[in-house]
Amino acid sequence: MNPAMENDLARRFPGVHFYNPVLVEVQDDVVIGAGTRVGSFTLIHAGARIGAGCTIGSHCNIHRATLGDRVAVQTGCHITRGVVIEEDAFIGPGVITLNDKLRGGELSFPLIGRGARVGGGSVILPGVAVGARAIVGAGSVVTRDVPEGAIVCGNPSRQRLLSRAPGEPPQ
Ligand SMILES: CC(C)(COP(=O)(O)OP(=O)(O)OC[C@H]1O[C@@H](n2cnc3c(N)ncnc32)[C@H](O)[C@@H]1OP(=O)(O)O)[C@@H](O)C(=O)NCCC(=O)NCCS
Repeated sequence: MNPAMENDLARRFPGVHFYNPVLVEVQDDVVIGAGTRVGSFTLIHAGARIGAGCTIGSHCNIHRATLGDRVAVQTGCHITRGVVIEEDAFIGPGVITLNDKLRGGELSFPLIGRGARVGGGSVILPGVAVGARAIVGAGSVVTRDVPEGAIVCGNPSRQRLLSRAPGEPPQ
């Protein structure tokens, strides 16, 4: 381990735990709140705003996005520029967020609402808002906004299952 790099991250981000500081790149102009943990082989780009008490997994690419407090981003996620992830949201492994429709026009940015949970391997298309406390099933391609508290899954994702509160048994 390179002690200089370790000390640099410790100086820049007091109270943040980097599992292996040598295996993380954090560019300039990044804010990370205390109590956040960051895995290895993760790149955090300039302009990123990450709240306190978050978990950022390994092999993640976090662009100039805004993450609230206690957000979890699991291994292998691509959080593209302009994404907002509100507090207590959970982003499963391998989730990809997108901001460019590739059809010209303006970029538009996904929003993941407070306490929402996005299943592993899902793709969130440009400009889509996932409502607070919603659940996106694993492997979904989310092309439309998801209402608060809804459960959606599939490609394209649809509200195929009954919405229920987190922890409530299936109906
Ligand atoms: C969407 C989800 C929340 C639904 O859970 P559930 O309410 O317990 O649903 P069930 O397992 O009873 O399945 C209900 C139906 O939906 C289907 N289904 C469940 N998850 C699905 C998914 N991700 N995509 C497509 N269909 C799905 C099932 O096949 C079943 O269909 P059927 O009735 O025709 O057999 C869950 O399956 C899921 O994908 N969770 C995300 C897991 C994850 O990524 N965790 C990340 C951390 S490890």
